[in-house]
Amino acid sequence: MANRKGIILAGGQGTRLHPITLGISKQLLPIYDKPMIYYPITVLMHSDIRDIAIITTPEDQAQFQRMLGDGSQWGINFTYLEQPSPDGLAQAYLLAEKFLDGAPSAMVLGDNIFFGHGLPELLGGANRRKTGGTVFGYRVADPERYGVIGFDDTGKVTSIIEKPKVPPSHYAVTGLYYLDGTAPERAKTIEKSARGELEITSLLETYLLEGKLNVEQMGRGYAWLDTGTHASLLDAGNFVRTLSERQGQQVGSPDEIAYDKEWISAQDLARRAEKFRKSNYGTYLQSLLAPSAHY
Ligand code: G1P
Repeated sequence: MANRKGIILAGGQGTRLHPITLGISKQLLPIYDKPMIYYPITVLMHSDIRDIAIITTPEDQAQFQRMLGDGSQWGINFTYLEQPSPDGLAQAYLLAEKFLDGAPSAMVLGDNIFFGHGLPELLGGANRRKTGGTVFGYRVADPERYGVIGFDDTGKVTSIIEKPKVPPSHYAVTGLYYLDGTAPERAKTIEKSARGELEITSLLETYLLEGKLNVEQMGRGYAWLDTGTHASLLDAGNFVRTLSERQGQQVGSPDEIAYDKEWISAQDLARRAEKFRKSNYGTYLQSLLAPSAHY
């Protein structure tokens, strides 16, 4: 079977962050010391996904290309696709159908930030499951803002509802979806919701109805951070700063992961460190080259 491919959905107008996002895409804004999109890129890298489509608005595409290039700096390959109008998350599978070419996929929303010890292992399980789909449930205080999971008395998942007024549980579906190669075909069968979008939850429902949706819990120790408001954007940056300064280790560095996975050489990393030598990020990359870096 074909290797799993990645999709990062980074479209949208970022209206909830206006006026900041009038001149720049939300997913290029900083989360402390790195652009927001670095974090979802590293989630896919943890799943050993090296072929990634980045979906943006037509206007923003050039900025993303300038920021991220073709991916070779991290030993991966980026394909840029356009979402001409924001018609819903499930539309990504229609736009990426040719790119996927029948392969299973992992899609992550460009503004979702995940952190937690054991994340690579949790993702590994989803990655190995080649048929059906896997999504992650995360307990939140305000489920009505998300796709929400409904459970029966035995804990079995019975429904996934987009932004319900009366949420059936506190468990939101995070913006990370591991789906098999049938996702584009399924996306063609779903209908637009009342708000005029092809909802990801409708797509997930097709898997659920066939008993092919696996819902994993992302438990207490994980951080799934929101970046949808001015306050939560700042909070996410502070979270990353607190953690990375305390431990002296980066959160969400594609350079570090590429080096750890040996997708780039020490020489490649040294070149990146040199490029960023005037920033703390560059100093950090340089420190990874020391023999004692892991201790
Ligand atoms: C989207 C999805 C929702 C999911 C959320 C995760 O909502 O529609 O099901 O829970 O992402 O971030 P949006 O952020 O587009 O309103």
